[in-house]
Amino acid sequence: MKSAEIREAFLRFFEEKGHTRVASSSLIPANDPTLLFTNAGMNQFKDCFLGLEKRAYTRATTSQKCVRAGGKHNDLENVGYTARHHTFFEMLGNFSFGDYFKRDAITYAWEFLTSPKWLKLPAEKLWVTVYASDDEAYDIWTRTVGVPAERMVRIGDNKGAPYASDNFWAMGDTGPCGPCTEIFYDHGPEIWGGPPGSAEEDGDRYIEIWNNVFMQFNRTADGVLHPLPAPSVDTGMGLERISAVLQHVHSNYEIDLFQNLLAASAQAIGCANDGAPSLKVVADHIRSCSFLIADGVTPSNEGRGYVLRRIIRRACRHGNKLGARGTFFHKIVGALAAEMGDAYPELRQQRAQIERVLKNEEEQFAKTLEQGLKILEQDLAGLAAKVIPGDVVFKLYDTYGFPADLTADIARERDLTIDEEGFEREMQAQRERARSASAFGLDYNSLVKVDADTLFTGYEETFGQGQVVALFKGGATVERLGEGEEGVVVLDRTPFYAESGGQVGDCGYLSDASGVRFDVRDTTKVGGAHLHHGVVAKGGLHVGQALEAQVDGSVRGATALNHSATHLLHAALRRVLGEHVQQKGSLVNSQRLRFDFSHFEALTTEQIKALEALVNTEIRKNTAVETEVIDIDSAKKKGAMALFGEKYGDNVRVLSMGDFSIELCGGIHARRTGDIGLFKIVGEGGVAAGVRRIEAVTGAGALDYLNAAEEQLKEVAGLLKGSRDNLLDKLAGLLERNRQLEKELEQLKAKAASAAGDDLAGSAIEVAGVKVLSARLDGLDGKALLALVDQLKNKLGSAVILLGGEFDGKVVLVAGVTQDMIGKLKAGDLMKQAAAVVGGKGGGRPDMAQGGGSEAGKLDEALALVRPFVERAL
Ligand code: ALA
Repeated sequence: MKSAEIREAFLRFFEEKGHTRVASSSLIPANDPTLLFTNAGMNQFKDCFLGLEKRAYTRATTSQKCVRAGGKHNDLENVGYTARHHTFFEMLGNFSFGDYFKRDAITYAWEFLTSPKWLKLPAEKLWVTVYASDDEAYDIWTRTVGVPAERMVRIGDNKGAPYASDNFWAMGDTGPCGPCTEIFYDHGPEIWGGPPGSAEEDGDRYIEIWNNVFMQFNRTADGVLHPLPAPSVDTGMGLERISAVLQHVHSNYEIDLFQNLLAASAQAIGCANDGAPSLKVVADHIRSCSFLIADGVTPSNEGRGYVLRRIIRRACRHGNKLGARGTFFHKIVGALAAEMGDAYPELRQQRAQIERVLKNEEEQFAKTLEQGLKILEQDLAGLAAKVIPGDVVFKLYDTYGFPADLTADIARERDLTIDEEGFEREMQAQRERARSASAFGLDYNSLVKVDADTLFTGYEETFGQGQVVALFKGGATVERLGEGEEGVVVLDRTPFYAESGGQVGDCGYLSDASGVRFDVRDTTKVGGAHLHHGVVAKGGLHVGQALEAQVDGSVRGATALNHSATHLLHAALRRVLGEHVQQKGSLVNSQRLRFDFSHFEALTTEQIKALEALVNTEIRKNTAVETEVIDIDSAKKKGAMALFGEKYGDNVRVLSMGDFSIELCGGIHARRTGDIGLFKIVGEGGVAAGVRRIEAVTGAGALDYLNAAEEQLKEVAGLLKGSRDNLLDKLAGLLERNRQLEKELEQLKAKAASAAGDDLAGSAIEVAGVKVLSARLDGLDGKALLALVDQLKNKLGSAVILLGGEFDGKVVLVAGVTQDMIGKLKAGDLMKQAAAVVGGKGGGRPDMAQGGGSEAGKLDEALALVRPFVERAL
């Protein structure tokens, strides 16, 4: 069976058992700071296990993209050297959220693996482990399923702490966890290794293929296990491993999918496809790197971007080891897209972008690699011990961009190890330095803890009534705010939009009939509460007070236009540049809009024009801007664009402008696209590798911008004594005239210098048969003095010359010695002495030297050095 067929069979089997087929989630976990990358099928269901989220189904099945490179589950170091480790893999899983538990989970797994209708694996090849104290699971396996006791293994806490076991699974240090039962496949006696729990368990003979976790607890940061609201099931079977079993090969790298990737890798590198570990590294890494880039990660020096960078660099180095010339890694993306693009269309859609990001990173790394390897060789040459010291590893990392695991890789090839502790110490020290260097920003919101929720009434209105439910001053809750005091007001309902989704918060004022007035400068959100930040302009506020809330309508209005234009721009970008464009950030205020997006090169003038044209066409269509609140699946079916890494509830607000733009958005918008009036891009630039930024203005702001530009043009025309119509001709004429004048000036300078040279030559004196000349010539730069010295050398035949002068507030010196004399004295030596006198430095060749200094007052003294210098030498 091909891997693609196995994937499909798994999903179908569980569909037949009443499971809903759910798509793989992004590799960037949604709103989960505890997780670097999606590392298991259960990640997207974490809140379902915790009872925080309810879905329409209680049984689900997925084939999930996973990356295990960094964080709790990290396989990076092993990749290439074992038969079964990967940075990227697909995890097949079935899940029960408080529905079935151990018995069904176990019997389903067994049926799928052994039934003649499904995978038909011979039962006697399968071994099973259970958590040591899990008698219930043990009994189901032995009594219901009939696995003989000699192929059952109980595994206890074998990792040095309670609940730290191969048979107790946890997503991370906190979160859902529970005991598990694992199914192993015996690849046969011709492969070395022993059953799980034995001394030889690390061999490749008995391979874990399927883990069934009985989710029972939520572990909190204090290490305490709290029972989940309802016992659940989470399973994971590596598609690559089960494929190896079914294709009768023992290494994952021999399955159909990897055969093609290995061949493509060998071809890109230009080496033999001979099973070398380095080739496996490359074939593995192209998957994690491509999928990560497709999900919006770009190489950088921190966080996810840094892990991606490390993987790319590791791949590059292994390619180099196999003899790759130039860049090769990006050339494998096509083969990957062909292999996996059916199941993961993003690979095809984003192929060009992935290739560009990889190629760019390869080129950058080629430069640092060469330099870093040289340094490492030097350090290794002087190394007596078998351990590379931590400070060397750190220096390579810090100065040459050499990830520590790369150094570890090189060390491994030479039977060396690295001092990881020493390296970690250096890293820690650097983190401390960085921390103390960064300014202490005080996040005001983080100080304010509010239990209340505010009802937002501002989508349609800019005016409303509300009651004060809480007041804050300096982060502390207070009962009153007096006149002149700054603080935060929370109302039970408000039309003030709180900053989110890139749109800034509203400003305006709160007031009552008695004349009390609170000026709102900004609105933010904590939990469900809207915080009105500002100052009491008149009277006093107290909790319980009824207030009228008035949003500044003109600021809000201009902001809304910019927000709607941002959506049009986003949609236009995808049409003009391609589907790879993803939003990376945005800022919308009343002045302008800023939109960051993934794209690899600067936009051309034509592309910018095309974007403006497309957006303005949509504006002129005057389409109604419509919103509806629907469930997330229907929203996705409509093709609504959502942000990667953003977590949405079951019901979402979908904002559409005809068919042109459909996005999930909670912001404030124009009523019709025509309200935007005019859209004008005012800036385009890069903000990070692979991320571009567009700034634009709309409505009255766009008109202001154009008027200002026109004003400027008029001023320029005035200065040129022309009008807008003949401005270009005038300017071209002026530039031409300027060029002519420069040319004339050069000629005049040369003439003047030559005349000066004639005069100067006459003033040379003779010392022991040699012409000696020193002169002060202010206002000439070094270049002019050099030319003059050259000319004088020709004229004088055998001579020692020192010229100096003030230029631009500094002293410039040039010394020359004719060829026949350089055996006896050298221009460089003369210059050293002369420059020292004027408080500077100088040097050069024996026949010509240059220097300078800052003390113009000593210039004559310096020039007077020549004569004694020659006398001493001759
Ligand atoms: N979440 C479990 C694992 O990753 C199934 O092994």
